Amino acid sequence: MAATNGSSQGQVFLIFGNGFIANQIKDLLLQEGKKVIMSRARIESREQVLSELTKHTPTRVINCAGVRGTPNADWCEDHKIETVRSNVLGPLNVVDVCHELGNIHVTHLGSACIYNTLPGDERPPWKETDEPFFQGSWYNRSRLLSELSIRHYPNLLLLRVRLPIAAVMHKDNHITRLLGFRKIIDLTGSGTVLTNLLPGAIILSEHGETGIYNFVNPGEISNVEIMELAKQYIRPEQEWDTFTLDEMLAILKAPRAHCVLDATKLQDKLREYGYAVKDQREALEEVFQILAAKGV
Ligand SMILES: NC(=O)c1ccc[n+]([C@@H]2O[C@H](COP(=O)([O-])OP(=O)(O)OC[C@H]3O[C@@H](n4cnc5c(N)ncnc54)[C@H](OP(=O)(O)O)[C@@H]3O)[C@@H](O)[C@H]2O)c1
Repeated sequence: MAATNGSSQGQVFLIFGNGFIANQIKDLLLQEGKKVIMSRARIESREQVLSELTKHTPTRVINCAGVRGTPNADWCEDHKIETVRSNVLGPLNVVDVCHELGNIHVTHLGSACIYNTLPGDERPPWKETDEPFFQGSWYNRSRLLSELSIRHYPNLLLLRVRLPIAAVMHKDNHITRLLGFRKIIDLTGSGTVLTNLLPGAIILSEHGETGIYNFVNPGEISNVEIMELAKQYIRPEQEWDTFTLDEMLAILKAPRAHCVLDATKLQDKLREYGYAVKDQREALEEVFQILAAKGV
């Protein structure tokens, strides 16, 4: 479904959050000559969000603010209120205030980790029409509560991210995280290759598309496959061990979502705009080729 303001001419983008994904979106928009404002507002504050929106009068809002937990999602178990503020109250504020101010279009970077597929389960990939349910950790629960709270707003484009991968060696890049582990879990699942998908997010935002999209590349990736590509392209000396899901869960405070999502809706929609969503393997190879060319 397309919202109002379909033309990209004269658009002003206001971005909440200033992290890994926000800065990649900012750079892409600036490369396209777009006007971009990076907001420093705390999104749990309705007053700050309202003030930013009335001051800058954006035509497009992109919410990349949120917490994933540092060093990992177990942080959220011990910081429940902070997690609710950033992941539940914040997005609801942003979407609701934008709605109140005249249905300003919001692109929200949410999470795919609201489904769970057990190893060996033969079920098909989760579609946007499947009711999300996974709340094994406080992080997952915050993402689930958030999606359930905001999903009916007509000004919302919600992109469900999982294991973001990009051609930059940032600490939040799933590749960088894996390279820092001695042991990795050998499971396959969905992943978000930002290098391929973020230009698509901008197309959807510019055209005022709304609704929920599994923001992942079609197919599955495995951590071992990523390490093999890393060894082939950028880290010939890289070594690793694998452990099982049970072994990994034994050292974590809370369970993790493991899931495969269906990317057909995203692929079909972006095809309408002439943009190709690449298969996981192809998109990943492209990332490693760029990293190798950079000599990282
Ligand atoms: N697997 C997944 O489910 C998954 C994976 C990747 C990303 N995501 C989500 O996608 C979004 C962007 O990810 P990212 O990788 O760019 O994360 P990131 O690098 O950690 O950046 C998050 C940004 O949000 C800001 N922030 C956090 N709470 C805020 C608040 N209450 N008000 C204003 N700003 C706040 C942080 O600023 P401060 O540090 O100053 O607080 C930081 O600039 C996040 O919401 C993330 O959780 C989900």
